[in-house]
Formats: sequence, structure tokens, C-alpha cells
Amino acid sequence: MGIERITPPVPLRTERLVLRPVVPDDTTAIGAYCADPEVTRYLPFPALDADGLAKRMERLVAATAPVEVGDFLGLAVEHEGVLVGDLMLRFSAAHDEDQPPSIAELGWVFAPEYGGRGFATEAAGALVDLAFTTYPLHRLMAQLDPRNTASARLCERIGMTQEGHTREDYPDRDGGWSDTAVFGLLRREWEGRR
Ligand SMILES: CC(C)(COP(=O)(O)OP(=O)(O)OC[C@H]1O[C@@H](n2cnc3c(N)ncnc32)[C@H](O)[C@@H]1OP(=O)(O)O)[C@@H](O)C(=O)NCCC(=O)NCCS
Repeated sequence: MGIERITPPVPLRTERLVLRPVVPDDTTAIGAYCADPEVTRYLPFPALDADGLAKRMERLVAATAPVEVGDFLGLAVEHEGVLVGDLMLRFSAAHDEDQPPSIAELGWVFAPEYGGRGFATEAAGALVDLAFTTYPLHRLMAQLDPRNTASARLCERIGMTQEGHTREDYPDRDGGWSDTAVFGLLRREWEGRR
């Protein structure tokens, strides 16, 4: 039998943006900001070279209809026809192997030249709505380096609550360890705000 494969309702339009699947033609735009060490400073991968970008693009392009834990939905975010960032919704836990995942993690990367205009907030908010509307998820979460204050503010703007701060649980790029801030949003909280 297996878990049903659900096709997400994309492209999805918001006031200023379109969220759509990532396609191979997005390589140049995604490659431009993913090659910037300032952008990838708190991401789980370093600034991407051509090989790293090819691997990331392959994963993003394939990420159209997640089913099981470990699968993810990758979306490109466009403003006026220009790719300004990308989003991820990764299924991170299921509490019964016969049931669909109940927890998913959110991730985002935006081109710095399009920062500070609320695009990430608008796109991530739409992804939260898509996630709870499309999948039977109980909880959304985000994990980030607490020094990534722009990302923490984004979590708060989309209604997430900081729930935890774990110490030195993630290998730092400098060879040390970094802390992790955990943010969460429960389905009932999301429903309560609608
Ligand atoms: C995390 C990241 C997406 C946040 O980008 P951002 O530009 O701060 O977020 P937004 O696009 O939502 O813009 C919000 C900012 O614009 C301002 N703004 C202007 N117009 C706005 C609007 N209409 N709506 C909301 N905010 C608006 C806000 O006040 C906010 O500024 P502030 O944080 O200084 O108060 C970006 O820093 C990034 O891509 N970082 C690199 C990748 C990364 O670290 N990812 C996360 C890994 S966990």
C-alpha cells in the first residue's frame, strides 16, 4: 500500500511572489547566491563551487512531491519573473511507519540583493500555509545557528516560537561546535491564527 503521494498545489501565487518547482534553468540564479560565503555562512553547506551546485540543483529539481521522512519539497521563489530565493520543506519525522510524516522542517535561502523587503517572510508564510493545508502535519520546525539573527526574526514573523537552544551540537565550519536554536509551530497554533 504505502503512503499516498500528494502533489503540492504549485505554482502558488502570493501578493508579490510565485512559488514554483525548481527547474534546471534556475542554476545560474541559485548558483549566484549559493556561491556567496556570507549567504552560506549558517547553512549546512559551504559556498558552492560548480560540482556542489550541480549536486544541489539535482536534489532541488527532483524535490517535487515528498512522501517519506527525509524527502523534501524544494521551491523557487520568483518576484516579477526573477528568482529571488528558494525554500525547502523537509519531512523530518513520522511516528508510525505506515502513516505520513507528522513533522517537517522549513528552510530558506534568499539572494541578498532581494533582502529586507519581506520577500522571505511572504514566501515562508505561504509555505507554512501550503504545508498544513496539503499534508497531515502536526508540527513545523526550523533549526538554526542562534547567531543567524535574520533567520530567527523570520521564524518569529511567520508565527514560530523559539522552543529550545541546544549547546554545541553542530560542527562549526571553523572546526569547533555551534549551538542550535529550535523554533516550532503547531497545527493548532496555525489554525488559531487563520
Ligand atoms: C534568512 C533570510 C532569508 C532573511 O532575509 P530577510 O531579508 O531578513 O527577510 P525578509 O525578506 O522577510 O525581509 C524582512 C526584513 O525586511 C523588512 N521588511 C520590509 N518590507 C517588509 C514587508 N513587506 N514584510 C515583512 N518585512 C519587511 C523587515 O523589517 C525585515 O527587516 P529586519 O529583519 O531588519 O527587521 C536571509 O537572511 C538569508 O537568505 N540568509 C542566508 C541563508 C540562511 O541563513 N538561511 C537560513 C538557514 S537556517
